[in-house]
Amino acid sequence: MSSNRLKEGVMMKYFERWLPVIGLLVLFSGPVQAESAVPFTESVVIFNTVCAKCHEAECSGRLSFDDCYEVSRNHIIRHYGAAADKLWLQRELYSILNYTKEQCAYYPMDMAIPATKVWSGEVLQRMSTIPKRNYFVPVGILAPGQFRIELEMDENVRVTVHLMSEKFDMVVEDCLEPTEKSLHIPVTITEPGDYYFRLYPRRPVRINRLAIVEDGEADH
Ligand code: HEC
Repeated sequence: MSSNRLKEGVMMKYFERWLPVIGLLVLFSGPVQAESAVPFTESVVIFNTVCAKCHEAECSGRLSFDDCYEVSRNHIIRHYGAAADKLWLQRELYSILNYTKEQCAYYPMDMAIPATKVWSGEVLQRMSTIPKRNYFVPVGILAPGQFRIELEMDENVRVTVHLMSEKFDMVVEDCLEPTEKSLHIPVTITEPGDYYFRLYPRRPVRINRLAIVEDGEADH
C-alpha cells in the first residue's frame, strides 16, 4: 500500500515537473499556430481559391473545436487532394476557416504590396496554387475612382477574374478570353478599402504581370 502511494507521489512529482512542457506542447500544437510564414501564404491562397467557393464570407463568429478538425480532415482532402500527406496544411486551412468565421475577414498574408501596384510573374507565382494555377493576390487599398486591371499571360487562356472588397463584396466577376495574351478589365471603385484579386484559369496558365492602374481622364 505504502509503496503504491510512494509510486503515486513520484509520478505526481514527474507530472508536475513536466507540466509546463506539456502545456507548451498543447499551446504550440493549437490550430492558430503558424508553422512558418511561407506555408501560410500557400494555405491562404488555397483557402481563398479552392475552399472559398463554399466558405467565403462565412461569418458565424462560432469557432470549430479540435474534434471537428479530426472529422473535417477527409472533407479538406476531398476538396484539396494535395493536402493528403501535409498535416500542417490541413491544420492551417482549418485555422484559416476559423479565423474567417470569427473575424469575418480575409486571413492576413505575409506578402508586401508594391506601391506601384505592379506584380511580376515571379512574385505572382508565390500566390498561385499548384497545379491548377488559381491566383489570390491582396492588392491593397483602393480609393474611389476608375481603375483598370492589366494582365499579361503566357497563352490565350480563358479566365474567371474576381476583385473583392475586404467586406467580401464582388466588384469584378467576369469570365474573359484574352487577346494577344493580355487583358484590360475596367473597374469602378465606390467604397474605399482593402481589395483582393482572384483568378481561375480554364487550364493552368502563368501570369507574367498584374497591374492595377488608375484610369486617367485621357482614356475616357
Ligand atoms: C463544395 C463546397 C465546399 C468546398 C469547396 C469546401 N467545403 Fe468545407 N464544408 C462545406 C459544407 C457544406 C460544410 C458543412 C457545413 C459547415 O459547417 O459549414 C463544410 C464544413 C467544413 C468544415 C467543418 C466546419 C465546422 O464548423 O466544424 C471545415 C473545417 C471545412 N469545411 C474546411 C474546408 C476547407 C479547408 C476546404 C478547402 C480545402 C473546404 N472546406 C472546401 C462545403 C465545402
